[in-house]
Amino acid sequence: MSDKVVLAYSGGLDTSVAIKWLEEKYGMDVIAFTVDVGGDRDLDFTQKKAAGVGAIKAVVADAKEELVREYIFPALQAGAVYQGTYSLATALSRPLMAKLQVEVALREGAAAIAHGCTGKGNDQVRFEVAAAALAPQLKVIAPAREWGMSREETIAYAKKHEIPIPITSASPYSIDENLWGRSIECGVLEDPWVEPPDDVFQWTNSPERAPDQPGYIELGFEQGLPVSVNGEVLTGLDLVNQVNEIAGRHGVGRVDHIEDRLVGIKSREIYEAPAATVMLAAHQALEAMTLSRGQLRFKRMVADEYAGLIYDGLWFSSHRNDLAAYVKSTQEYVTGSVRLKLHKGGFQIVGRKSPYSLYRHDLATYEKGDLFDQSAAPGFIQLWGLSTKVQSRIQTRNSA
Ligand code: ARG
Repeated sequence: MSDKVVLAYSGGLDTSVAIKWLEEKYGMDVIAFTVDVGGDRDLDFTQKKAAGVGAIKAVVADAKEELVREYIFPALQAGAVYQGTYSLATALSRPLMAKLQVEVALREGAAAIAHGCTGKGNDQVRFEVAAAALAPQLKVIAPAREWGMSREETIAYAKKHEIPIPITSASPYSIDENLWGRSIECGVLEDPWVEPPDDVFQWTNSPERAPDQPGYIELGFEQGLPVSVNGEVLTGLDLVNQVNEIAGRHGVGRVDHIEDRLVGIKSREIYEAPAATVMLAAHQALEAMTLSRGQLRFKRMVADEYAGLIYDGLWFSSHRNDLAAYVKSTQEYVTGSVRLKLHKGGFQIVGRKSPYSLYRHDLATYEKGDLFDQSAAPGFIQLWGLSTKVQSRIQTRNSA
């Protein structure tokens, strides 16, 4: 009996070719494993295709709820955005896919898992580090990294083995998508001076085609978790879908980024992330109202660190557990609502409220009823500036 390998199967050209190639090269029985993380793919079709190409079994898992609950929302609460720009959709899905894939492999008694990533990207790292953390006894095979075929050769291989070539292979772009966003690379986008053509985008209107009238959206949060849109309480999954739809209609969430990959390459990435863009901004606005200055300052550093480790494939690390514990603790009073105005590709926060708001009108106001004791200010400034004053008198570099 041959060894089994569980292949992360997208239904695209590379992973379809990989089914045959794993059979030929390694003599293994391939179990195709496809994860539904949102995005519009016909998974019945994908499953049938895997069997048609020669997989002994095709397994599909719906992981949308889990992706939102266990990966997207923790990242949202952390404020995790890589290089201040990328809200990490692809990077967040990989550890979940790897985890589910490992579970299938253990259940099926497989000897190995396989993925279709090339050797130039971040995704190979994310899959393999996750697998190493979860089940180091499993061998990992990366066909597309090993076979050394060019695109033309891959297509020729597919033709020779009567593997159907998906129409999407005609698309000049390489696309990865899930609920939290779409990542688009390749084709003309490889020239960073070229404006992304409109056919790159699927979830967002161009500013030109977005409605002329601004739209408003109100997001409700409880302990840092989004719970409602425009007053309607929804599940996390429905909420993300709905915000994607509304923000996308107004053209919000397009990102054009020169990004530093973990493997040392700078690459040009286009993202569409309407819900992520709007929800991260709203969450941050609510934190500005409910966290202290010190919490906000320190949490920004944690956010950067957290984003970096998600990007770098270290989701299943103790470092992430530790940061997650800190983030959770910060969210206790991040409850309230944020109102945003969306218009032709841009948006603003235009209102926020919270039962735990640290904003006190009676302290901030310049009108009647001011409770702030201005006579305490001179004494405060005297002590606050004391060390600077002493130093400047003795070490005269900053004195007049
Ligand atoms: N650069 C992003 C990341 O590393 C997205 C990669 C997406 N892959 C793709 N085939 N478009 O997370």
